[in-house]
Amino acid sequence: MKFHIITFGCQMNVHDSDWLTRALESRGWEVADENSAQVYILNTCSVRDKPEQKVYSELGRVAAHLKRDENMFAAVGGCVGQQIGKGFFERFPFVKLVFGSDGIANAPNALERIAEGADDRVALLDFVSIYEERENPEERTVTMPESRQAFVNIMQGCDNFCSYCIVPYTRGRQKSRHPEAVVEECRALVKSGVREITLLGQNVNSFGKDKGGVGVSFADLLHSVAGIEGLDRLRFTTSHPKDIAPEVKAAFGELENLCPSLHLPMQAGSDLVLKAMRRKYTIEHYLSIVDDLKKARPDISLTTDLIVGFPGETEEDFAQTLEMVERIGFESSFSFKYSDRPGVAAVNMEPKVEAKDAKERLMRLQTLQNNITKKCLENLEGRETVAFIEGKSRQQRGDYTWWKGRDPAGRIINVEMEESDGLVGLMVPVRITEAKNHSLLGKRIGKPW
Ligand code: SAH
Ligand code: SF4
Ligand code: F3S
Repeated sequence: MKFHIITFGCQMNVHDSDWLTRALESRGWEVADENSAQVYILNTCSVRDKPEQKVYSELGRVAAHLKRDENMFAAVGGCVGQQIGKGFFERFPFVKLVFGSDGIANAPNALERIAEGADDRVALLDFVSIYEERENPEERTVTMPESRQAFVNIMQGCDNFCSYCIVPYTRGRQKSRHPEAVVEECRALVKSGVREITLLGQNVNSFGKDKGGVGVSFADLLHSVAGIEGLDRLRFTTSHPKDIAPEVKAAFGELENLCPSLHLPMQAGSDLVLKAMRRKYTIEHYLSIVDDLKKARPDISLTTDLIVGFPGETEEDFAQTLEMVERIGFESSFSFKYSDRPGVAAVNMEPKVEAKDAKERLMRLQTLQNNITKKCLENLEGRETVAFIEGKSRQQRGDYTWWKGRDPAGRIINVEMEESDGLVGLMVPVRITEAKNHSLLGKRIGKPW
């Protein structure tokens, strides 16, 4: 069978799609482009209304392809799959499988049965209460085999119930994976040539604090993974500020291969709004975390998520968000307009901020952020660093080839080099020559390794 996966949403979804691809390939299925696929799999995101609506419009598009052959079908997985569930069967007769993030483990077998005609329709929507190890097809968790970077899941789900967020409903309760399984997977990856690992979870800082916990904290896990010989770079995402332990902050000063960057979603700069969001930290607490991190690792690069227009957010609250963004100097941020999600507590919170005000706030915030980003990047001009090469740059000009890499903090660096191939997965020492709006230019100053 030929299949095509379309992925929306966060890195956990990207990682899930990656696993599903390999699980199907190990059954003899083949990845195909849109025009020749027989099975279309949508791995979806429900975090805001827009990505949810995108699923319905994508299904409309897929329907046109399915007219080629009546045996072709589609599957909807991920967060909208979980949320709407069997509702897809009614609205889209060609959808034969729905699955959530806990159900994905059984999706490859279900897809096989449907393709063979043994099952007509399957819904894999049950939540599990402990982390289920998935079958590990040969190639394991390498996102792009040649890139030597990999994601590793350390947990599933979330228990925080921030008042705006649908994730605890779509991905279920927090379930930590056994730390040994995590370390073993990381070890196998490094052995197979992986040089950079990103540990994934909705709230990695509360790793081990659920039924699956065995007394190993996230800081312990970081130390174990960082200790794997041959691992050049270790990252993790996402962190909830209320749960970051002193040992995790300290780890940034202790573990050499732990990258100097942290994505720490602040969401808002006003204590009143944070309270209504049920984030369970104050701005004072957030600032103290930033201080501790900077003490542990002065060159740490901080990034964040922000929501504007949360119900009840006043102009004054919003001004505090701007103030905090400026004061902390986040290198970059993802910012969103608040979006009502079904079943979350904030749906019933009033007053809603008018769409035009939310839009205007978002623009002001993004303009400020762009200026800060530019300044942060300009401050790096002239410095030496190491770019881990991911592939060729999108833009090519001049005599040689431009390559795209990342510095240890994850900033994109484009470097022009003589080689026209063979550099992916190598570290290249570079001097930063110029800051662009969202990336850096560099010049090679040493041999790739
Ligand atoms: N677990 C992660 C976040 C996952 S969702 C964490 O807590 O950091 C990614 C981001 O989407 C959130 O940080 C938040 O900024 C945004 N988001 C979530 N629900 C939203 C909603 N209803 N409206 C707008 N943005 C939302
Ligand atoms: Fe959503 Fe909050 Fe959980 Fe993040 S921590 S996934 S924002 S409920
Ligand atoms: Fe989206 Fe689900 Fe991830 S809602 S952000 S795909 S956890």
